[in-house]
Amino acid sequence: MTGTVDVFAKPPQSYWLTSTASPGYPALEKDIKVDAAVVGGGLVGVTAAYLLKQENLTVALIEAGRIGQGTTGHTTAKITSQHSLIYSKLIEQVGLEKARQYAEANEFAITFIENLVKNKMIDCDFSQQAAYVYTREDQYIKRIEEEVKAAAGLGIKAFYQEQTALPFAVRAAERFDNQAQFHPRKYLLALAKDIPGGGSHIFEQTRAVDFPGGRPFVITTGSGHTVTADNVIIASHFPAYGGSGYYFARIYPERAYALAVEAKEQFPGGIYVAAEPAGASLRSAPHDGGELIIVVGGRHRTGQGPPTEDHYRNLVQLAGQTFNVTGIPFRWSAQDYTTLDEIPYVGPLSNRDTHVYVATGFRKWGITNGTAAALLLKDLIIHGESPWAAVYDPARFMADPMIKSAVSPGADIAAPKSGAPPEIPEAAALAPGESMVATVEGKRVGLYRDDRGRLHAVYITCTHMGCELVWNGAELSWDCPCHGSRFTCEGEIMEGPALKPLHTGGDRYNP
Ligand SMILES: Cc1cc2nc3c(=O)[nH]c(=O)nc-3n(C[C@H](O)[C@H](O)[C@H](O)COP(=O)(O)OP(=O)(O)OC[C@H]3O[C@@H](n4cnc5c(N)ncnc54)[C@H](O)[C@@H]3O)c2cc1C
Ligand code: FES
Repeated sequence: MTGTVDVFAKPPQSYWLTSTASPGYPALEKDIKVDAAVVGGGLVGVTAAYLLKQENLTVALIEAGRIGQGTTGHTTAKITSQHSLIYSKLIEQVGLEKARQYAEANEFAITFIENLVKNKMIDCDFSQQAAYVYTREDQYIKRIEEEVKAAAGLGIKAFYQEQTALPFAVRAAERFDNQAQFHPRKYLLALAKDIPGGGSHIFEQTRAVDFPGGRPFVITTGSGHTVTADNVIIASHFPAYGGSGYYFARIYPERAYALAVEAKEQFPGGIYVAAEPAGASLRSAPHDGGELIIVVGGRHRTGQGPPTEDHYRNLVQLAGQTFNVTGIPFRWSAQDYTTLDEIPYVGPLSNRDTHVYVATGFRKWGITNGTAAALLLKDLIIHGESPWAAVYDPARFMADPMIKSAVSPGADIAAPKSGAPPEIPEAAALAPGESMVATVEGKRVGLYRDDRGRLHAVYITCTHMGCELVWNGAELSWDCPCHGSRFTCEGEIMEGPALKPLHTGGDRYNP
């Protein structure tokens, strides 16, 4: 069947978003003052706002789009402390004590989510699962053996196996018991419900665009209104405000692709990730009385590598080789950031901004790391300390002085002003679905003709720090290879550090 599936017949749609309605919180329409402001309504922001509200603080959560529609709405949603092969590396790089903190934080996060789901009776398809890292290649067998020993030494229930219930042979696997999976947006929307009221708010369609700072700290939103707060959590995935923390030099974005597949056979249960980069991550999700099998893979640095459509094609092939696929109702992709040592940055943003906190760099393991981050930041704000502060401390790897003197975010990148650029004769030959880049008066212009024949023109100089954007044919977006900002073909911000849309070609190309 997969040979005949046209995975591009429908636009990308995350199953998690399609299966949940947006409650529709209001936008900020006046200046407000609260105890704590949270920028970004993904897993980290919503969990942190929920926890601070439980501590009787007044909280304002501001979200540029709709809550849970960022990476959290495009994840695989495995709830596990098994983050591929990490523990032997952690012990070697940061020592036993910090490796133990990492393990404990993530194991605690699993229990925290499970208890919250039980106590609040959250209907989010939560189920306990065993988690597996598997390999089909001999070269990973020894690493898996070492990883089992390392994880077990840190107190995790870890086991070595030579087979799994997957419908293909593996060379080795590591199993963690008492792990889980859920529907991430159902969970998030349930937590969010408890935030508004008693002086606390959720504001959607409210982008933080400027950070005048001070103490209390002032945030200016796109509509010009301000949020003033004693404590601020920057939970915008890439830090929308980095202060003097130079995060753009300390994290990098990596994308991956997901298919939700219908198959003749039943998924055997469990949550899986391949040790080797070319392998797949697998789980199932209940859907309409049946199930979907979620197949994830094709990782690459944002804005780099082969045409993005190839990653979907490879994944369709991989799904077809693994299961008797009868349909692929959903496909989507997403990105996450990775830090220099693969441990997230969670804690005070920088030495100068001690009452501003950050949580970023989850390396595609942000469900437990992100929950642990929210718990850690709540503890820092309420108690001034956390048992996991040392391992996640963002102050490690402070940027090289060379980087500090380099161009900074928001610098004037000499982009052209909005308005009609000169004619681009080659554009006339562009067929529907095609894109091209032209140089006009020394400026790079990206053109895309949509299926209805409309031409969209934008200047493809990234508004973050001036890198040149690259066309992403699978998602119809202009993506930045430097720090992962992404823009629609009309120049609107989709994600990443950019705070301004792209300069456009005015109405000339969009009559
Ligand atoms: C393909 C893929 C699969 C994954 N699978 C797993 C998995 O199985 N298990 C796991 O543990 N982790 C997984 N992850 C990682 C995990 O999903 C993420 O780390 C986590 O969801 C990140 O949450 P977040 O709250 O930091 O970011 P987001 O969910 O992206 O939320 C950030 C929010 O901030 C908003 N925002 C941005 N800028 C501003 C601004 N200036 N003003 C206001 N709001 C702003 C955005 O609109 C967004 O809603 C996966 C990641 C990917 C890419
Ligand atoms: S230059 Fe930083 S995201 Fe584009």
